[in-house]
Amino acid sequence: EKGGYDWFMLKEIEEQPAAIADTLLGRLTENGEIMLDEVRLSDQDLRDVDKVFIVACGTSYHAGLVAKYAIEHWTRIPCEVELASEFRYRDPVLDRSTLVVVISQSGETMDTLMALRHAKEQKARVLAICNTNGSTIPRESDAVLYTHGGPEIAVASTKAFLTQVVACYLIGLHLAQVRGIKYADEVSAVVEQLNQVPGKLRDLLERIEPVRELGRDLKDARTVLFIGRHVGYPVALEGALKLKELAYMHAEGFAAGELKHGPISLIDQGTPVVCVVPSPAGRGMLHDKIVSNIQEVRARGARTIVIAEEGDEAVLPYADHVIPVPRTPTLLAPLLTTVPLQVLAAEIAAARGHDVDQPRNLAKSVTVE
Ligand code: F6R
Repeated sequence: EKGGYDWFMLKEIEEQPAAIADTLLGRLTENGEIMLDEVRLSDQDLRDVDKVFIVACGTSYHAGLVAKYAIEHWTRIPCEVELASEFRYRDPVLDRSTLVVVISQSGETMDTLMALRHAKEQKARVLAICNTNGSTIPRESDAVLYTHGGPEIAVASTKAFLTQVVACYLIGLHLAQVRGIKYADEVSAVVEQLNQVPGKLRDLLERIEPVRELGRDLKDARTVLFIGRHVGYPVALEGALKLKELAYMHAEGFAAGELKHGPISLIDQGTPVVCVVPSPAGRGMLHDKIVSNIQEVRARGARTIVIAEEGDEAVLPYADHVIPVPRTPTLLAPLLTTVPLQVLAAEIAAARGHDVDQPRNLAKSVTVE
């Protein structure tokens, strides 16, 4: 039951801290090691992996896009991410040393299942990340890592997404550890940070009311754009997908660096632009780059909604609304920055009078093409 919430989706959003803790449960040792014995791939198998392919649909695909940044950084193994509906109809280069990670909440998505079979025919090893015990995709895979997120009732995926991202991190960290390469040192530090995410997410959810108010205020927008860089880019894609599916509004996510190559023309007086900003403490110039992107869209009339780390003062002069999120390392930030976008989409949909849990034309489990 909805347990006092207006919609299952809101309940599932609120369950995210516990869901992440459940994904981590029993998989981290005291000394910062990752234990994935259940995955049944030997350390030797994992050392032989020379390429990772992540294949999924929809929101699960976005989890894969986030994972690529982390997996390549920690393991130095090339990682590609592809939509299952594309992967299954082409001729990807795969062999025994390719690890194909299929991600599916339901474990029944037809395109993802067909992509899995396609990979197996070419002798790749297939590891499923799945939320549904005993479903078809994990049954047909060589190995499975269950997300343990609990049942997701709302059609729009929320806690399944965050737990998929966590499961991908665990696989990346485990691969790094087993292979003992350069970034393996970082593993225990990351593990410590991962353990802190549920608490930070709880803090964020306690202060979510202004996001709901903002959602109600945005209900008449014609289009909403989302921009991000690095892991903030898949978060922008996910924010836009949620809004499309729930509010039936036009929404698009872009890599902020692409604005000048076309999308900036879409910006008109008052167009809401949601900007996903990385930590100013993060590496490289990422933070400064996106601050100048925010400045640019604002100069063209955008109403800027900025998701930024608490205490980030650099964004203030260009933000019409700031949604602060607790501090966490850049690679883990999607576990926090996605959540206000989920709430925003649900609230806009409700304000427009739509059924938040059961959007039109969509099914929870897509068992046909
Ligand atoms: C969006 C959503 C869908 C699913 C997609 C894949 O909120 O829920 O995009 O993510 O249909 O489903 P699974 O993960 O069950 O394979």
